[in-house]
Amino acid sequence: MFTIREKDSGNFIGQCALLPIEFTNGNYLIGYQIDDTQWRKGYGSAACEFLVYYGFEVLDAFRLTGDCAEGNIGSEKAMIKAGFQPEGRQKRYWIKNGKWYNKLHFGLINEDISEEKMEMLRKTYNKT
Ligand SMILES: CC(C)(COP(=O)(O)OP(=O)(O)OC[C@H]1O[C@@H](n2cnc3c(N)ncnc32)[C@H](O)[C@@H]1OP(=O)(O)O)[C@@H](O)C(=O)NCCC(=O)NCCS
Repeated sequence: MFTIREKDSGNFIGQCALLPIEFTNGNYLIGYQIDDTQWRKGYGSAACEFLVYYGFEVLDAFRLTGDCAEGNIGSEKAMIKAGFQPEGRQKRYWIKNGKWYNKLHFGLINEDISEEKMEMLRKTYNKT
């Protein structure tokens, strides 16, 4: 799990994480949440892209898995821009305050990300 902070001020922006999926090695569930004062500034997209870098480059994942509620446009766009493929939709997966939400599934296989893209991610996120 990572905490996201603004580079100069150190102000809290949000969190993101890669969680191992049980019964296998190398498949991780991604997650991110950005403080609502910081939405729509590109942080969610950057967090998702960082998780792709960390998952494939550092954890040597073979697959990254993601999901979101249908209608969570910010999350869906962040995953699609990072290269995730839509993998299906489960109807009426969650209920909150009497409202039903469908669940959208996404996945990214290590072989489906180009070496050019990985090189770009290394240049952006590997500061060591
Ligand atoms: C989902 C979430 C991470 C998006 O973070 P963000 O920092 O606002 O995302 P970005 O600024 O990178 O936006 C990504 C894209 O979605 C769009 N977008 C973001 N929120 C949107 C909204 N409410 N309605 C429509 N479009 C939206 C942005 O304009 C951007 O579009 P672009 O790529 O065409 O420029 C953030 O809203 C959040 O933390 N939500 C609560 C927790 C959550 O839902 N986490 C994900 C669970 S799967």
